Amino acid sequence: MKFIKEDFLWGGATSAGQIEGSWDVNGKTPTLLELTPYNEKINRKEMLFSSKTKDQYLKALQSNTKNHYPKRYGIDFYNRYKEDITLFKKAGMNIYRMSISWSRIFPNGDEKEPNRAGLEFYRKVFEECLKNKMQIMVTIQHFDVPLPIMLKYGGWINKETINLYLKYVEVIMNEYKEFVTYWLPFNEIDIAIWAPELGLGIFKSDFNQETGELKQISYQGLHNQFVAQAKVIELGKKISSNFKIGCMLANSTTYSIDCNPVNVMENIKMQQISRWFYYDVMVRGEYPTYSKRFFKENNIKLDITEEELLLIKNNPVEYITFSYYMTGTVAKEEIKKVNANLHDVGKNPFLEDTEWGWQIDPIGLRITLNEIWDRYQIPIFISENGIGVVEKLDNNFTVEDDYRIKYLSEHFEQINEALSDGVEVFGYTMWTPVDVVSASTCEMSKRYGLIYVDYDDYHKGTGNRYLKKSYHWFKNFRITGEL
Ligand code: BG6
Repeated sequence: MKFIKEDFLWGGATSAGQIEGSWDVNGKTPTLLELTPYNEKINRKEMLFSSKTKDQYLKALQSNTKNHYPKRYGIDFYNRYKEDITLFKKAGMNIYRMSISWSRIFPNGDEKEPNRAGLEFYRKVFEECLKNKMQIMVTIQHFDVPLPIMLKYGGWINKETINLYLKYVEVIMNEYKEFVTYWLPFNEIDIAIWAPELGLGIFKSDFNQETGELKQISYQGLHNQFVAQAKVIELGKKISSNFKIGCMLANSTTYSIDCNPVNVMENIKMQQISRWFYYDVMVRGEYPTYSKRFFKENNIKLDITEEELLLIKNNPVEYITFSYYMTGTVAKEEIKKVNANLHDVGKNPFLEDTEWGWQIDPIGLRITLNEIWDRYQIPIFISENGIGVVEKLDNNFTVEDDYRIKYLSEHFEQINEALSDGVEVFGYTMWTPVDVVSASTCEMSKRYGLIYVDYDDYHKGTGNRYLKKSYHWFKNFRITGEL
């Protein structure tokens, strides 16, 4: 099968906190990512984002700790970015989605002037991308609120954080306007609800989960991010007419477990609250009617002003992006659950899952693209998709990852089908072009890359890069267009 769209953007996606390392150099302050240890006793089928108390996180700042913190080291992209970007280019990628670490630019959030060393680092990375003729998509916040903003301001539940964030955005947009076209204000904005610690920069242990307090403040933080995103769009339009600003969601497509109307209705409600709600606010610019019922029934009372609602209405996103790893099922009664990205979902007997329980569903991608297109009719970009597998280098210094080739080609075929259905999809960045530290489990051994990185879970190894079989497959696909 030949891929039908020639001017499609093909690339890879990463995040600063999972690749850069150098967590405490040149002025950078920590984030929770670097205060979360690797735990070799995790149950991969049950593992969700780990959570610590505020005291445990702060204790992790002490250097005499006995735990290992993989995100402090990442894959040493901070020093090896040239090598990685060159390999991405050689694979035939024409776009690189990456994130900027807020804590390198405004380490405390409220300084008057940005940290020049941080700005210089990203300038060098962007120059390298430009040299390799790759477009850039920047995620402005990817799970990494600077710790000082958490401690002093309480993260995103404080509206003052909107101003700190806007100051940061204004600096990077002005600084990099000749390099970057595509901007995503927040990675997986729905993480504010699924894992508020990372999305909002709050300590969960500060809030009561039983009384609904945590849910209440999470939706408030999310609202503040909707406002911030609208302000970024307003600002971006003034800085450069070339900017294209979109949204990013951990897309959670689910199916009713069967055709029992009770379950079908349950799934509709689930889809409204865990998927459409976010797109509706960010694309249509309004809180949907069903969300008002949801807030009422859950006793969620938000501090929302008329001015904020107008801002959101007047500044919708230009395109939609999402991460797509799996689908799930929903029923009214309790059903068997499996692990998924950020939360668990019902098991689907027709799908296979990975070692982490993530259910592989290429056709679900076509379904998702069609549903989103039918509802919003704005361009779509798949900003994350891929498969994490435990892998070892073989004697030929490669990995025969036929399962990854199968996974990617089946998903690409479904994008092709969606394009034939008339859906306007304009690009795809795989998670990930190169192995990185896992966001949820801090494992290095959950490998997604086309390129193998020689580090283990304890950062032991040379850090050298080796090409897997899928790297050559992808390169060939980019030359021939053949799937
Ligand atoms: C997405 C994130 O949730 O899924 C990435 O945007 C993350 O940061 C990816 O790495 C895969 O999840 P994990 O937990 O397997 O690394």
